[in-house]
Amino acid sequence: MQTRQIGPLAVAAIGLGCMNLSHAYAAPPPAADAEALLLAALDAGVTLFDTAALYGFGANESLVGRVLAPHRSRIVLASKGGMAGVESADGVKRVIDGSPAAIRRNCEDSLRRLRTDHIDLYYLHRWHKAVPIEDSVGAMAELVRAGKVRALGLSEVSAATLRRAHAVHPIAAVQSEYSLWTRNPEIAVLDACREIGAAFVAFSPLARAFLTGTLRDVGTLDAKDLRRQMARFDPDTYARNLKLLPPYEALAAEVGCTPGQLALAWLLARGGHIVPIPGTTRIDHLRENCGAAAVTLTPAQRARLDALVGRHNVIGPRYNAATQAEVDTEEFPA
Ligand SMILES: NC(=O)c1ccc[n+]([C@@H]2O[C@H](COP(=O)([O-])OP(=O)(O)OC[C@H]3O[C@@H](n4cnc5c(N)ncnc54)[C@H](OP(=O)(O)O)[C@@H]3O)[C@@H](O)[C@H]2O)c1
Repeated sequence: MQTRQIGPLAVAAIGLGCMNLSHAYAAPPPAADAEALLLAALDAGVTLFDTAALYGFGANESLVGRVLAPHRSRIVLASKGGMAGVESADGVKRVIDGSPAAIRRNCEDSLRRLRTDHIDLYYLHRWHKAVPIEDSVGAMAELVRAGKVRALGLSEVSAATLRRAHAVHPIAAVQSEYSLWTRNPEIAVLDACREIGAAFVAFSPLARAFLTGTLRDVGTLDAKDLRRQMARFDPDTYARNLKLLPPYEALAAEVGCTPGQLALAWLLARGGHIVPIPGTTRIDHLRENCGAAAVTLTPAQRARLDALVGRHNVIGPRYNAATQAEVDTEEFPA
């Protein structure tokens, strides 16, 4: 696979988002299947593995550590802190805490679960707005100086916050949602990343399955699937957005790739500093996604794609109000 640069780290152009193996969508797959998926990703040439303290409240990092520790020197391990599961009287709760003490604690817990002495790329999962970004990034910079982390990243931040953070310590990557159907990074963050020499890691690059064309009926989603809380996955809204797919799928056929590969190839063509991290629980999907690195699009095909799916015709906000309040990104009006 072609490679791209994230600060000091060279990575295969398509990474693997490991979240869905423990968290978020359908019930997690059996452990043996999740382990096989991670090993298949290695075989397929994936080098960037993306996890977080939050995913499965530590279970995802434990899985990644268990399976990939023997292959540690071959991979670029990315994880996130500042948002994690915290014990409470009602069980474990998701808490955003960007205080220096929480970041240090999260990182130590992640290192232990990941069975490693260093994390290659460590992100602040959310900017905790009660804590100055300088304080959170200052604590992360200490982790770099201690050799526990190699490079720093931020997730779901605005260009202004990125610049403030970068003034404290070089930021190697911003990770935010970006795909044909979520264009917010085009407002400012993509350019800001280019300007400071950071990579842009695109999460949910397949629009959480919409752009693969395989999710036709959101009524089939698991009751606990997080997409059920997202406005675009409301059955009426989703049905309206589905009308965008037939010409999009026709263009994929014309290019000679699958709809999912078209979404990933579009992202790779948007900038040499962009690294998509699709998530999957299926080995056939994983191989298909990696194949997108070999798909090339002509300028005319890219222009047609921009006309087919974009902010001018996708309906509904990406997050509900509570989740939106937790992020710091510039957003186009829905
Ligand atoms: N920083 C953050 O706040 C944040 C937030 C969300 C996600 N992320 C990261 O981004 C990664 C990816 O995002 P995501 O999982 O939300 O969205 P995504 O990659 O856009 O989509 C994942 C969905 O698409 C399906 N899928 C994947 N490949 C497919 C294929 N070739 N054909 C058909 N269906 C396919 C998956 O189901 P199957 O399992 O059936 O393939 C899953 O339902 C996560 O794993 C996580 O690491 C970060």
